[in-house]
Amino acid sequence: MTEAINLDPLMPGYPFNAHLVAGITPIDQGGELDFWIERPSGLKGYILNLTTSGSGLVFPGSKHETRVTTGDMMLIPAGACHDYGRHPDAPNWHHRWVYFRPRATWSEWLNWAQVTRNVGFMTIESRERVQLISQLFKDIDNSRKNGSMLSEELGLNLLEQILIRCREFDQQRPQAPLDNRIHRVCQFINDNLSKELSIAELSSVACMSSSRFSHLFRKQLGIPIRQWIEDQRISLARQLLLTTDLAVSQVAQYLGYQDALYFSRVFRKNLGLSPREFRKSHQ
Ligand code: FCB
Repeated sequence: MTEAINLDPLMPGYPFNAHLVAGITPIDQGGELDFWIERPSGLKGYILNLTTSGSGLVFPGSKHETRVTTGDMMLIPAGACHDYGRHPDAPNWHHRWVYFRPRATWSEWLNWAQVTRNVGFMTIESRERVQLISQLFKDIDNSRKNGSMLSEELGLNLLEQILIRCREFDQQRPQAPLDNRIHRVCQFINDNLSKELSIAELSSVACMSSSRFSHLFRKQLGIPIRQWIEDQRISLARQLLLTTDLAVSQVAQYLGYQDALYFSRVFRKNLGLSPREFRKSHQ
């Protein structure tokens, strides 16, 4: 018997196949959402989280236990363990969040100064700023709901604005800025998505050995280089499927996949739909 897929992102077991999902989790004491969100191996994408009221507790019972209140933000990278819920002392914890697969050009914005167990923390100091960020979260949610052909593009654009704002508001300058060589490779990948990209070539762009490069890439960006490239290609594939009438085989070729069937398989693995189904579902 196959288990029914949970279609509510607020409930455990939601597959998070999409590249951008946004929502609000209003946890009230004793309510149906009043449980711990525990993901020991993290998710496939990043999560950006803003407390809008009440108080939450992150990594409870560990030496990294952290209380978050209104205006506190968290950035949880792909694959980063997270464990959080309503602070037992607080009657509620409401937070807005965005789940996303970052664009290659965003690496600069994903490198926060204060990091605990791979999770970035930041406090947005003034009420005006909290409002501004909170509004952007709402705009993402609304842009997703309007479901137009370009709603995801708009959502990603708004998300980039939040990330840039966070960078701007960050009190502490990053202690360890993104390694220049990794930054260079991210740009290179972005410019060459339609070509075959080997680790050997990418490590030579970084001027490092293959194994050191792969290790550093994963350490800095939280996911293996292959998955990063695949994410970027799938992002572009989605965009091309929605905004052009290129045939699926042409999209595959444009993205450097010689075999259209293989491309469809990779696409389905990432998004749970074939390229054709995906295009149809957005028409
Ligand atoms: C929801 C959680 C929220 C965030 C997203 C990705 O289920 O309530 O905190 O983790 O998933």
